Amino acid sequence: MPVPTIEWVDGRIRLIDQTLLPNEFKQIYCDDVESVWEAIKSLRVRGAPAIGIAGALGAVLGIWRSAATSYVDFAAELKKITDYLATSRPTAVNLFWALDRIKKTAEKHKALGTTQLKQVLLDEAQQIIEEDREMCRAIGQHGLELLHSGDTILTHCNAGGLATSDYGTALAVMFTAHEAGKNIHVYADETRPLLQGARLTTWELMQAGIDVTLICDNMAAQVMKEGKIQCVIVGADRIAANGDTANKIGTYNVAILAKEHGIPFYVAAPTSTLDFSLENGDLIPIEQRGAAEITEGFGTRTAPEGVKVYSPAFDVTPARLITAIITDGGIVRPPYEMSLKTLASEPSTGVD
Ligand code: MRU
Repeated sequence: MPVPTIEWVDGRIRLIDQTLLPNEFKQIYCDDVESVWEAIKSLRVRGAPAIGIAGALGAVLGIWRSAATSYVDFAAELKKITDYLATSRPTAVNLFWALDRIKKTAEKHKALGTTQLKQVLLDEAQQIIEEDREMCRAIGQHGLELLHSGDTILTHCNAGGLATSDYGTALAVMFTAHEAGKNIHVYADETRPLLQGARLTTWELMQAGIDVTLICDNMAAQVMKEGKIQCVIVGADRIAANGDTANKIGTYNVAILAKEHGIPFYVAAPTSTLDFSLENGDLIPIEQRGAAEITEGFGTRTAPEGVKVYSPAFDVTPARLITAIITDGGIVRPPYEMSLKTLASEPSTGVD
């Protein structure tokens, strides 16, 4: 990214307002926890890892000006802030993971005075950002072996630098292959209704000098049938213990199409996206979005006033449709109940 997706600057949070891209590149500031909540909810900051980072920094921002002098008061205030931020979006587990990590850090250092404790929490949020950066690079390195010169990859939504601290997950694999001199081509689904593929993925790939072609979501089957796609790589918002994977609505369709056409379907995600507390994907909460995003997205009404609308923002791709999951700890393959557990027991963000 030309500038960080999200960062802490002198007691405020600065982030790229992704709702304006690609027409306008603008950084905005959040000065209070309410504006962080709004930025997450309205997708100014979006993508599972970036939402996690926004949650962590948002919790620090919320507690930063606290007048609490005892740990009990401090912890109660922090809980109120994290509970509030947790209501912004339900599907990406990274948000809850990051909020939990901030609370646990406070608990661990409760013997400190509250002024010092605030600094410890900021350091922890910065550590989450740094770890995310390393995880993205490791995902790119691990995924490199899956791509060959001449390959064309289909991706859905945006799992790039904008969706993380930097460099992305699914796009990290493409950036790494491109940097390694592999000649790759990408087809980007536009990703209705909020067009993350059209607005953000093509923008990132073009900036990196990667050859990218935009298609509407409903063109993927035809493009696959024409033999144009060698593999699919997408990101993830939450991966259950059995490998079932929640990602942007429409990902499941793409996985079914890939299976039908004998094309490998890869998920790229950091270990912070794993949720072992959920046995399978049926238990993943699916965010519902407002009707206006479909009926009058980007200002133009495209459906009659008063029409009924259903708008799940995510779907769950069953593990059986996933060829492999590219993580920061390496590539894991089915059966995922076992391989994900093994991965978690051998934590590694590096590349051997
Ligand atoms: O609604 P969004 O734009 O936050 O959805 C984002 C996605 O579905 C991404 O693919 C996912 O979060 C992975 S980001 C590395």
